[in-house]
Amino acid sequence: MEKPSKIAPAKGKLGVLLPGLGAVSTTFMAGVELVRKGKAQPVGSLTQMGTIRLGKRTDARSPLIRKFVPLAELKDLSFGGWDIFKDNAYQSAANAGVLNPQDLEKVKPFLSTIKPMKAAFDHDFVKLIDGPNIKKGKNKYELALQIKEDIANVRKTSRASRLVTCWCGSTESFVKPEDVHSTPEKFIEAMKSNHPAIAPSMLYAWASVTSGVPFANGAPNLTVDIPAIQKLAHGHNVAICGKDFKTGQTLMKTILAPGFKARMLGLEGWFSTNILGNRDGEVLEDPGSFKTKEESKLSVLEYILQPQLYPQLYGKMCHKVRINYYPPRGDNKEGWDNIDIFGWLGYPMQIKVDFLCRDSILAAPLVLDLVLFLDLAQRSGMRGIQEWLSFYFKSPMTALGLYPEHDLFIQSMKLKNTLRWMKGEELITHLGQEYYD
Ligand SMILES: NC(=O)c1ccc[n+]([C@@H]2O[C@H](COP(=O)([O-])OP(=O)(O)OC[C@H]3O[C@@H](n4cnc5c(N)ncnc54)[C@H](O)[C@@H]3O)[C@@H](O)[C@H]2O)c1
Repeated sequence: MEKPSKIAPAKGKLGVLLPGLGAVSTTFMAGVELVRKGKAQPVGSLTQMGTIRLGKRTDARSPLIRKFVPLAELKDLSFGGWDIFKDNAYQSAANAGVLNPQDLEKVKPFLSTIKPMKAAFDHDFVKLIDGPNIKKGKNKYELALQIKEDIANVRKTSRASRLVTCWCGSTESFVKPEDVHSTPEKFIEAMKSNHPAIAPSMLYAWASVTSGVPFANGAPNLTVDIPAIQKLAHGHNVAICGKDFKTGQTLMKTILAPGFKARMLGLEGWFSTNILGNRDGEVLEDPGSFKTKEESKLSVLEYILQPQLYPQLYGKMCHKVRINYYPPRGDNKEGWDNIDIFGWLGYPMQIKVDFLCRDSILAAPLVLDLVLFLDLAQRSGMRGIQEWLSFYFKSPMTALGLYPEHDLFIQSMKLKNTLRWMKGEELITHLGQEYYD
């Protein structure tokens, strides 16, 4: 890909479209509004709090990322979304129980105005929930066209100059890539014939991309990870990225595992289990949805540890992931990891991690960063898969035949170097020989 010759300014409003007005998206919107009102800090957001070093360590140039690249400002964000339930964003946030009532009260008037559009939903893909706010149509193609109409309406009524979609809907049942996903033409035919391998999230992706709207996928669903949508993204000059927000346990894995590998410590096994009680947890009780999540969570260690290169250290590793729906915990998940490592002469050791985390508190700033960076990519003329946004995902999308980078530190370097590259700054290699000449 060529370096952007020029980045269009972030002029006007940026409309954020969210399929799924649940825990993550309402926590994201409430947070943006609280920050805009000066009542909270955007902790966890690289676009809002992060800096980027430019030039040599002795140059003392470390501007805020949002001053270095032209990102949309929070004041210019507006929001819309779809859900199978009719609750407005305030009711949905209250129901999700992530934010305390005092915080929610401060943004009640704002959240109450955000009402979900009717969803394109298929119960076969999310078996454990059902709702009344659903589109009707002869086939999946008609539903996708209705989503396109929604997008056009939002564009008009919000007077946004640009839009970005971020899937924050439930995890769908596992779908294997099939021939119907291979080209845009076959994909349309499959929508028309109601093919079972066309998931609702793909309809939103198709509608977005063919409307020229960039799309990020926060769930582990295939969605934009199929050739048909990727070809359309190229054809329509649209940026896409995914999949599955990297929060909680997988975030910890991609922080710890690179450390073990860097020090050539062996790994015999890694057992991860979680309890969580939010709607996401409820949906994941269904084996089909869990399989989608499990695939996404399991691949991380294989790629980071590269057992094919280090068979003595990682060749026999046993990796298991369990998720248990346990309503009393709500959104406050607890994740336990038992890590069996070995050191010098093969002597065994154990590490136990007990992470009492808050799922949506970790996910909300990722939605914000993804929306702002995708909009930046779009204004820079960068189309197709945005691998530099791997930092945010459990299963980063890559070009065909390329293995994904899961190591959080490589991902962070890749992201920042991409920003430097976009702006024509020198890339940072950490060689540092020049300091000793
Ligand atoms: N830390 C995290 O919270 C985290 C991390 C990684 C991935 N995710 C993923 O993000 C997504 C959202 O998580 P959440 O905790 O907000 O879940 P949630 O259950 O609170 O919200 C999802 C919402 O999507 C709606 N929905 C389902 N199918 C839909 C459709 N076809 N169209 C429109 N709306 C639809 C549901 O009604 C629900 O309100 C899930 O897929 C989850 O797996 C979350």
